[in-house]
Amino acid sequence: MATSMLGGGVVIAGTGAGDDDALAPVRGPADGGVEKKVDRLLKQMTVDEKLQQVQLLSDGQITDDDAKKGVGGVFSLTDPAKIDHYQHIAVERSRLHIPILFAYDTIHGYRTTFPVPLAEAASFDPGVAGDDFTISARESAAVGIKQIYAPMVDVSHEPRWGRIVEGSGEDPYLGSVMAAAKVRAAQGDDYAADDKVVTSVKHFVAYGAAEGGRDYNSTDVSERRLRDLFLPPFKAALDAGADTVMCSFNSLNGSPGCANAHTMTDILKGEWGFDGFVESDYTAVAELRACPPKNPDDGPCGHGMAADGAAAGALALNAGTDSEMVSTNLRDNGKQLLASRQISIRRLDDAVRRILRVKFRAGLFDHPYADRSKVAERTLRPADRAKARAAVGKSVVLLKDDDGTLPIDPSKSVAVIGPLGDDQHDMLGPWWGQSQDEDAVSLLAGVKAQDPDTTFAQGCPMVDADLYDPKNECPDDSGFADAVAAARKADQVVLALGEVRGQGGEAEVRSKIDLPGRQLDLLKAVKATGKKVTVVLFNSRPLDLTDVAANADAIVEAWFPGIEAGNGLADVLFGAVDPGGKLPVSFPRSVGQVPISYNHEPTGRPCDASQKYNSRYRDIASCDPLYEFGYGLSYTTFKFDNLVLSSKSMSPRDSVKVSVDVTNTGSRAGDEVAQLYLHDPVASLSQPVRRLRGFQRVTLKPGEKRTVTFRLDASDVGFSDDAGRFVVEPGEIDVFAGDSSKADLTDSFTVTGGSRR
Ligand code: NOJ
Repeated sequence: MATSMLGGGVVIAGTGAGDDDALAPVRGPADGGVEKKVDRLLKQMTVDEKLQQVQLLSDGQITDDDAKKGVGGVFSLTDPAKIDHYQHIAVERSRLHIPILFAYDTIHGYRTTFPVPLAEAASFDPGVAGDDFTISARESAAVGIKQIYAPMVDVSHEPRWGRIVEGSGEDPYLGSVMAAAKVRAAQGDDYAADDKVVTSVKHFVAYGAAEGGRDYNSTDVSERRLRDLFLPPFKAALDAGADTVMCSFNSLNGSPGCANAHTMTDILKGEWGFDGFVESDYTAVAELRACPPKNPDDGPCGHGMAADGAAAGALALNAGTDSEMVSTNLRDNGKQLLASRQISIRRLDDAVRRILRVKFRAGLFDHPYADRSKVAERTLRPADRAKARAAVGKSVVLLKDDDGTLPIDPSKSVAVIGPLGDDQHDMLGPWWGQSQDEDAVSLLAGVKAQDPDTTFAQGCPMVDADLYDPKNECPDDSGFADAVAAARKADQVVLALGEVRGQGGEAEVRSKIDLPGRQLDLLKAVKATGKKVTVVLFNSRPLDLTDVAANADAIVEAWFPGIEAGNGLADVLFGAVDPGGKLPVSFPRSVGQVPISYNHEPTGRPCDASQKYNSRYRDIASCDPLYEFGYGLSYTTFKFDNLVLSSKSMSPRDSVKVSVDVTNTGSRAGDEVAQLYLHDPVASLSQPVRRLRGFQRVTLKPGEKRTVTFRLDASDVGFSDDAGRFVVEPGEIDVFAGDSSKADLTDSFTVTGGSRR
């Protein structure tokens, strides 16, 4: 890592996203051959053709005429015949034969829907993300899609925000490792390969900090938080090779994502040397306009930063947006903007150059069409389903398991109860790609496959609808009697509760984060039978589980597990698979604790719920969330000991190895995630109380011990100052190792040689 001395501190280029192998950069120097081809093509292009190239249209907008004029990109088209049709027009009938880049929101699967991204993060296993994106890329590319709008890497501390489900949760390090794994799997070494796609990392940036959790809302974030909390997963994705980026809807410190020169031009393209392109999010360029818009036909308005569409186009392009999604302000007004010098041909050429560069790297000029012989890759395959099923088992988090309620003894009879128990539709989550509801295995079907005598009662309905209507959310107790009767007849109950998929995802924000409707009453009614109740939760966000935990014997956090939901969950419930997932986000005790995260900064009055004059909630008896980041149980038990540092001091150009022993102390094989956290107790800017800087998921037999080793260097111990520089200061660094963010095995080492700001 390049280092330089600036302003008294040791300043290190980059964001400190870590340099473990999982985060090592993969892109080599720019390919001279591609650059020559881009230059040659660019010289032949008219201004009109350039303005077409920076236009990105949706499936509903594209026409033959657009393809013939040389439109740059099209998204959400999935019919291979239509993709082929427009590609043939672009390649054969447009003047310069430039292929279209077809894109799609392949978020956690195209046909083979994996667990939602938040669930994949809960696996603490980049291999799960890798399996998903390997299959996702192959299935997407098989229909002619060559760009995917993923990974979504927005760090968020906001459970009300429905899009928290699309990312990796509250931690930048976990988010970075997952982002890198996804990019590597989808792109490989060369995304021109016919089973690979280019990734678009989104949403740039700080979209997850939306005030009040309301989607699209403003954010106001200091430079140091921007760099230490929100930017690292983007940097990790780019280091892994991501060649496109989507700028976000939200304003950041008054500057909307697609009009933000600081983030797009200074940081992304300047500091980080990104040479791919940035596309706007959906109508985000039009939304730069003041309301009411001068021309309502040009799309929505809002941010109040541009008087009209032309000004919006100029603002976006000049700030660093290279491609406009859905709205057409740049294409429509580009000539006039050039004439009036509101945009320069140099910047327009730069945007076009970036788009062409990605198209050449994607191999589109050599292979513009999907290979028709690959039609089998568009269908569901047993081997892929098996990977999706294994991913479910790895993503599940066991939150509670009293008195060995789980795994279920196979000799016991089971009743599956609850509104989400016999549900295929919701298993797919808020992005379901090209999966059909009937592809998904419900919890009931999965449990029945392993225990055919299982009975079912719904209890009450949960209906997936676009708009809120209490009638859709377990509205009354009319079905409770049947549920109670089913519970009475069985030895054990598996109660499927939670949210429908439409309660999470884009624009789906909740002001409450408890179980919707009368579901808690259903739990209480079933529990009153005296039977052991395992609650299986399906949800997009951390929920307030205080009352659920008080009533359930066991709680399995299943998220939305994808097409293999029921099978993967039955594997866990009956014990074929040990649940070893961990929470990638804190679960608060009440919505009033939000935002809450393990990596918060300290205060001069640290929380003490029993005292006055400190940073507490007077009506919550604890300072902690109900379940902390990194928490999750297993069917076996583990012990952590023997924390060893390879050295008690480290210079900023050196590294320290930290090892810890993990032993399976129970009588079953099981999975544990060894986690390593750091804290800088004395720094020139107050540092988070803990920061995750390493993790490793291990599978251990009963009695087996494994020594897990982490390597720490300057990128782990430094932080960003308020000018955005990454600094490493001398002094002590505390290390904590264990099974959650409350890990208590601790030691420290001293950073030498750096200096204070
Ligand atoms: C809007 C969403 O914010 C973004 O994530 C998505 O990629 C685009 N729509 C395209 O579907």
